[in-house]
Amino acid sequence: MECPGPRGAALLDLTGQVALVTGGGRGIGRAVAEVLLEAGASVVIASRGAAALAAAAEALAATHGDQRVLAVPTDVADEAAVAALLAQLVARHGQLDVLVNNAGLIHFGPIDQITPASWQAVLAANLTGAYLCARAAAPLMQQRRHGRIINIASVSGHTGGISAGVDYAASKGGMLAFTKTLARDLAGSGITVNAIAPGQIDADPLLLSAEARQRVEQLIPLGRLGTPREVAHAVLFLASPMASYITGATIDVNGGILKR
Ligand SMILES: NC(=O)c1ccc[n+]([C@@H]2O[C@H](COP(=O)([O-])OP(=O)(O)OC[C@H]3O[C@@H](n4cnc5c(N)ncnc54)[C@H](OP(=O)(O)O)[C@@H]3O)[C@@H](O)[C@H]2O)c1
Repeated sequence: MECPGPRGAALLDLTGQVALVTGGGRGIGRAVAEVLLEAGASVVIASRGAAALAAAAEALAATHGDQRVLAVPTDVADEAAVAALLAQLVARHGQLDVLVNNAGLIHFGPIDQITPASWQAVLAANLTGAYLCARAAAPLMQQRRHGRIINIASVSGHTGGISAGVDYAASKGGMLAFTKTLARDLAGSGITVNAIAPGQIDADPLLLSAEARQRVEQLIPLGRLGTPREVAHAVLFLASPMASYITGATIDVNGGILKR
């Protein structure tokens, strides 16, 4: 059967679409916002730190225009805050095409250093936040029978990872299962739901000492950390018409580390 829809460069063109990127002010989320803006989408970024978020939005708007960038300070684990975020998004754009659940707390350390409070905080940001955002976004997408939900999980959700805490790994394993089941729930509404499982990404150059970086690089078959933009490129693919028949899937962006 002939595949309908765009051809060539138009397959990666998101002009006229609106994307929400949680945690879009820095790291991987910032790169995702940039790449989606480059593809023509308008982007709403949301995270807790209002000043850093505003600074990121200003820098993105300087390149892509004020009208295409909106920053809304939000704790994604707070149901009322997520409702207010979606209300601001609708007031500005009237539609939502792409939700990228990227906000998250990265956490290392053995179980004796994980308190019930820190466990709850990691699960709330990483998993409850994705649930609340997807739940708020789905009706908007269902109205237009079009939507893409992209969840940023982690290699640790597959394998436990090389240094992740059990709280972090559990949240990301949960994200992978959440993705598959939500894909089934929303498939009848024209909405696809997929995950990306990054390996070690060079999102914060200060995170690893030179020695630790060398140790990690030796565990990665491609011999280096990934870049935030390499994750963002997988997001663009899943958001684009190229991925119209993909749902419930996970793309590993990890330099081959999963196989070890
Ligand atoms: N870097 C890696 O190697 C790697 C590997 C695999 C997966 N990932 C995943 O990729 C995503 C981004 O990671 P990153 O390295 O870019 O981390 P990052 O630099 O720490 O950025 C995380 C972002 O999430 C926001 N955030 C955290 N908790 C939030 C909450 N409750 N509500 C709203 N925003 C919140 C942070 O902003 P505020 O603190 O201001 O809220 C920040 O913008 C995370 O989900 C992470 O688990 C990263």
